[in-house]
Amino acid sequence: MGVVQHQPPKQATAGNITVTRVTPALGGIVEGIRLADELAPPAIERLNELLVEHQILFFRRQPLTPQQQCRFAKYFGALHIHPIYPVLPELPEIMVIDTHEGFLPDNDNWHTDVTFSSTPPLAGILAAKQLPSVGGDTLWSSNLAAYEALSEPLKRQLDGLTAEHSVVKSFPAGRWGADPAHKERYERAVAKHPPVTHPVVRTHPVSGRKALFVNDGFTTRIHELGARESEALLAFLFTHAARPEFTLRWRWNVDDVAFWDNRITQHYAVADYLPQRRIMHRATVIGDRPF
Ligand code: SIN
Repeated sequence: MGVVQHQPPKQATAGNITVTRVTPALGGIVEGIRLADELAPPAIERLNELLVEHQILFFRRQPLTPQQQCRFAKYFGALHIHPIYPVLPELPEIMVIDTHEGFLPDNDNWHTDVTFSSTPPLAGILAAKQLPSVGGDTLWSSNLAAYEALSEPLKRQLDGLTAEHSVVKSFPAGRWGADPAHKERYERAVAKHPPVTHPVVRTHPVSGRKALFVNDGFTTRIHELGARESEALLAFLFTHAARPEFTLRWRWNVDDVAFWDNRITQHYAVADYLPQRRIMHRATVIGDRPF
């Protein structure tokens, strides 16, 4: 009998990776890598570099099982399990955004994911599973570009400020705590996540660049200002960060994957497709404490 030769698992290397920039502010379309394969360390390192450079990476035609999506996400850190949003029962690290007439989208606002946590995510990895025939695009904006476009006097003012982020701003009890099937999970999540404080301007831990770190989804007030001053300044910053010059708009195809740096970007899922259905799977990589 011949010796059984075990083939080493297929590993994607960095050698074939190419990138096409999407807009001047952010985004790179990456080709030459299969996310379903195990990644060799140079490929992971290259993707980390590209993420810092482009802030969001897109991969086309990358069918991923939930397990493969988790394996890919874990190359970049430990995974977050969303305390409120639906998740796959057999793999809770995968959050399921399955929106239709019976479960309306609620991510059609500019937000940075999970800033209600003291260690908000480093990255989100979103895979398109089922799409409407038209619509359902997602926009991302660069908080680096938004910060850098501000005047020097305003940058100086913002640099010392801190803001409150609250889970209930995007997950109000009226929607998430009302259904008896989910009430207990919701109440546990709210009790476990009291409001947190983050700097209004954070520093990217790798590039050292500064970025705005407030978002309409979760930021409720700036601590150091009076209530009306805080409201006015936040309204300005939310509008400023959404200027088209700082954004890109992604038109999805099934099996596209987006991988964004959640520390320095925001996103907005356009809710223009009802009554059609849209299903996305998200894996979320835990980050560090913003500074
Ligand atoms: C998200 O809000 O994290 C997902 C965006 C989307 O559904 O396009």
